[in-house]
Amino acid sequence: FEKLNKNYTKTSNPISNAIVLGNGVMGKGIIWLFSKYLDDVRIKIRDISQANEIIKDVSKIYDYLVKTRKMTKNQAEFKLNKISYTQDFIGFKNFDFIIEAIVEDENIKKQTYKEIENVANENTIIATNTSSISIEKLSSEVKNKENFLGVHFFNPVNLMPLVEVIPNSNTSKETINKVFELLISCGKTPILVGDCAGFIVNRILLPYMNEAAFILEQGSKIERIDNVIKDFGMPMGPFTLADTVGVDIGYKVATILNESYGSRMPIASIIEKMYNAKLLGEKTKAGFYEYAGRDTYPNS
Ligand code: NAI
Repeated sequence: FEKLNKNYTKTSNPISNAIVLGNGVMGKGIIWLFSKYLDDVRIKIRDISQANEIIKDVSKIYDYLVKTRKMTKNQAEFKLNKISYTQDFIGFKNFDFIIEAIVEDENIKKQTYKEIENVANENTIIATNTSSISIEKLSSEVKNKENFLGVHFFNPVNLMPLVEVIPNSNTSKETINKVFELLISCGKTPILVGDCAGFIVNRILLPYMNEAAFILEQGSKIERIDNVIKDFGMPMGPFTLADTVGVDIGYKVATILNESYGSRMPIASIIEKMYNAKLLGEKTKAGFYEYAGRDTYPNS
């Protein structure tokens, strides 16, 4: 597989349509990306009354592109019109690629793959956007393991080029090749990584985030740490990042990495306290910072 990082083969039947499950921070970014680059995008929504709100959030990325003259209004409308939605599993048979960006919970994700496999075409590629759970574990009850893999986008999807591609031990070369082709055609930089809890980026990111939390617990200030790290050259400080990612996601990732790597990946107590207090960042309008009255999507 190593060679794929540089070479992939163009196929005669590239992925041209996709379904996205999960319409939170990541789901909306992925919906936007596929509406921009693919012919057809369907979103599976748990509560159909949220559909307009979700599409409105996705359209904010287009609004920004129109405002900055990177796209015309007509072009943006054309792309938005490619998005359809379903509360059930309507049309799943007709799609080439299905990605879930639902809650970071192993059992809920595994149950979702069963539901998808009951309705999808046997050639459909099924991907997970998990940020920390081993793909081998997630694939344990998947029937069509050769078509299943991790495709880990980063937040915000419209701005972050890197995508980690993580096979399970049975993922076929053809599946990986097709996913590379898809991601490159969407302007992304896919990188093939080995399967483990947290893959590459989050294994490196968690100790960094933890040290920031420990410095805070030792008496420093949120803004001070964020400003120092920004002055160091990072696009945003660790606490702004935690609020952007979602403290719940950070806490779940920390828990999974702690279970896998033990004491060298501890869970910072401030993160646990904030998770329990439901101070989750932008999504709850309060986290390390206050967001009440501020429009926080897209976070670009
Ligand atoms: P989020 O909390 O913003 O959205 C979660 C979505 O899951 C919502 O649409 C919610 O309706 C849905 N959901 C909740 N319970 C469900 C259930 N029982 N069945 C089906 N759907 C359910 O989460 P976010 O941040 O979008 O994360 C989604 C996935 O993407 C997670 O696996 C996370 O680890 C991963 N991820 C998150 C990143 C981030 O920066 N937030 C970055 C990269 C990956």
